[in-house]
Formats: sequence, C-alpha cells, structure tokens
Amino acid sequence: MIDFDLIITGGTIVTATDTFKADIGIKNSQITSIADRLEGAQHIINAQDRYVFPGGIEAHCHIEQESGMGIMAADDYRSGSISAAFGGNTTIVPFAAQHRGQSLREVVQIYHDRAGPKSIIDYAFHLIISDVNDKILGQELPALIKDGYTSFKIFLTYPMLKLSDGDMLSVLAVARENGAITMVHAENDDVISWLSKRLLDSGNIAPKFHAVSHARIAESEASNRAIQLARLLDTPIFIVHVSTSEAASIIRKAQGDGLKIFAETCPQYLFLTSDDIDIEGMEGAKFCCSPPPRDKFDQEAMWQGLINGTFQLFSSDHAPYRFDETGKLHAGPNPQFKKIANGVPGIELRMPLLFSEGVCKGRISLNKFVELTSTNAAKVYGLSPKKGSIAVGCDADIVIWDPKREVTVSYDLLHDNVGYTPYEGMSIKGWPETVVSRGRIVIAKGQLKVKPGSGKFIQRSPGYEFIRPAGISPPEIDPKTNFGAKII
Ligand code: URP
Ligand code: ZN
Ligand code: ZN
Repeated sequence: MIDFDLIITGGTIVTATDTFKADIGIKNSQITSIADRLEGAQHIINAQDRYVFPGGIEAHCHIEQESGMGIMAADDYRSGSISAAFGGNTTIVPFAAQHRGQSLREVVQIYHDRAGPKSIIDYAFHLIISDVNDKILGQELPALIKDGYTSFKIFLTYPMLKLSDGDMLSVLAVARENGAITMVHAENDDVISWLSKRLLDSGNIAPKFHAVSHARIAESEASNRAIQLARLLDTPIFIVHVSTSEAASIIRKAQGDGLKIFAETCPQYLFLTSDDIDIEGMEGAKFCCSPPPRDKFDQEAMWQGLINGTFQLFSSDHAPYRFDETGKLHAGPNPQFKKIANGVPGIELRMPLLFSEGVCKGRISLNKFVELTSTNAAKVYGLSPKKGSIAVGCDADIVIWDPKREVTVSYDLLHDNVGYTPYEGMSIKGWPETVVSRGRIVIAKGQLKVKPGSGKFIQRSPGYEFIRPAGISPPEIDPKTNFGAKII
C-alpha cells in the first residue's frame, strides 16, 4: 500500500533537542509519520550515513532589494532562493524595504511581485521602516502586522534609513501593541559620519578606512541605547549582525537582567577580520560590510556568544553586490570608502561553514547547529510550529546532510549572482546533499529539481517565543516594574 508521497529512510534525524535514527514519512507536504521503519511511498530517499536536519531558515538576507544608496542587490528571487536552497535552506526571510515617501502597502506589493514568480523555496518578509509618520504608525504598520508581516528592521545609521531615538520609540510602541518584533541595526550614525569626514578630509579614502570609520564604540553605544529604549517600553528587540565582544557583553548583561533581547552574528564575524579589507587596490571592497569584520579576539567572542546562547541565530546577512559597476564599484573603479556598496554574500555557505567549523571542530553540538540555523529563527519570527523542526505535523522542510564530504570553497560551486565569495579557498567538511521543501525534492545530486515560483509566501502570526540563554536565570525583580511600560 502507498501511504506516503516520500519516505526518507535510514538517516539520523537531528532536531534542536534530539538525535535519533528513524524513517520519515511525508504526505501532502507534511511530515505524517516518524518511525523505526516505514514502507509504501512513491519516492524513497536513502539517507544512510547522513544527517537529516530541519531545512535551514535564513532570516537575514537581502534579495532583489535596493540598498539605502539605491543599488539593486545582485541576486533576484530566482538566483537568491536557488543559492539558499543549494546551501541547505528551505525558507528565506528577506526584507521588503521602504524608502522614504513610500507607503508600506505599496512596498509589500512590490516585493510580492518580485518574489512570487521566482522563489523556489518558501519565503516571508521582514519590513524595513525608514519613514515614520502618523499614517505608517497608526494605520499601515498595525494592519500589516495583522496580515502576517510580524517583524521589521530599523536602522540607527545610514543617512537614508536611520531613525531618531524618538522615532525608534514610536516604532517599538507599535510593535509592543501588536505583538511584532523589531530588528535593530545598531551603529551610532554620528560617530561613523564624524570619523568618516575626518578620514576623508585627510585623504584616507581606501576601503580599509571603512572599518576604521565604523568604530566598535559606534556599535556598542547604539546596542546599549537600543536596549535601553526597548527596556523603557518593555518590548523585545532583535539586534542583528553583532560583530564585537563589547556589544555581545552588553547584550548578555541585558539578557541577564531579564530583558527580552535577541541577537545574532554572521559568518563574516567568525571567519573574516579587518585585515581582509586592508589589501592593495580595491579588492578590499569585496569585504566591506557594516558592521565591518573585526579581529581574532572578536571572532572568539562571537563563537562564545553562539555557544553560550547570547546569540539565538546564525544568519548570513547575505547582501550581494558584484565587484563591478552594478555593485561594489557603482561609483567608479576607485571609489572612496563611503561610496562602496555595503555588504558581503554568504547565503549558500552559512550552514556548511557553521557545520564544518562549529560541529566538526567540536565547538557546538549537532543540536545547537539546528537551533542556530533553523529552529530558533522559526521561534523568534513566528514560523513555528510548521517550520524549524522535524515532527509529525510540520511542513516537510528537510535537508539531508553528508557529514563526510570535503569541499574546498570556490565561487564556481555556488549559485548566487555575485561573482566571488569572501570564503574562497576555505576547506569545509560536511555539505547539504538533498533538500526537500514542503515534501518537494528541490535539490538532488547537485541538480535543481523545481521551477521558479514554486515557493510559497508564509503568512505569520503575531507573537514570538522568547529563548532565554542557557545559564541565565530569570531575575528576582521583574525588570519592567521599574520602567515606564504603562505609558502606552
Ligand atoms: O553591510 C551590510 N550589512 N549591508 C546590508 C545591509 C544591512 O545593514 O544589513
Ligand atoms: Zn543592518
Ligand atoms: Zn543586512
């Protein structure tokens, strides 16, 4: 009898909490059975000697998005989602970015038109809010949260995106009222602008001065400020792309005080340093992102943050720009550092890098790997219980992982449209082999098996699940009793 559309047999299933050998039965896009031995399916995948993980959820990536400088990302929803899938992901949550003067409804429609015909895996959108006015706060944002856009990013830097502290409070108040979560790009804009002007005025224009201008103090000050504003309103925030040990310590301290502060770090802060930007000519532009890669000490602090639970997520912050006039060098062949397109690619290597350097080198467990790459993203951003785990009733979003495959990273292996990878030449152990999204085999034997447009938009429900870092106990005094939460 044929009970299933697909059976994955003989593999070792790994979730955020358990590791066990079992078969998985899939019917109508969902996991319908997990048992020692299953039979009766249209298709069977043999996962002997393989790990079977929940598909990755890439919750910080910039796909087919114009940057604050107005530069279009190199990856559209076709190449971006294909690259994500080849990297073991089954869901992406890119941004629908508002530019000042645009209505949020209009922005959301633009991004649906971009993603709908092209994405090969499931997707949701975080909003980017750059224009805070009565209509946005009073009507559009609350209505969009109810419609399933339950997370948004705000910036404390970048001239075309940054919000004042007052505007940040106004956005946080709407988030609190409607059960949404606010992501914060925490860098002090005045510090960066002041340093940049001094550097440029004295002729220091090379890419390496990007890292000097984005001083670590700018990040720790803004992280602390964002935490205090969130504390004032007793509402959670998610601090994205953390790069310094000081910022990580500030976040951990706040978590210890019982505040609902989430955070992430990214591959560029584990595997790159500011020395990568400091190379002759313009090549360093390939490594310019904000915050910039820091130093070896910070890399170690980022690992500690992943290990001890300060960071709930490991995201790529894939911000793809080609090394040509369409991207990094849009302002000419030798631009001063402020005119270099900001961001590095990483959507396809996020999971392999973490598996190889984290799991294979004994820094994190298999379960922690799943937590950081999938389960916690589902919890924080309202995608669970359907996404982020392997259990009966979940969407059949699965990556079958070959833990023994050894790969030397080369851009030729990747499927994005960037033309280079910052991780060229790195040796990696462990690689995604087969990717199943809602029961559809998306990638098998290195081949793409589905058509553009076959991914689905995921409408999320307001609310998030707070994940208290291990080793931090709830404070004796409820932190909100001392603060002004009652004012809204
Ligand atoms: O440099 C970066 N990270 N660019 C992408 C935009 C952002 O701030 O995440
Ligand atoms: Zn950012
Ligand atoms: Zn980003």
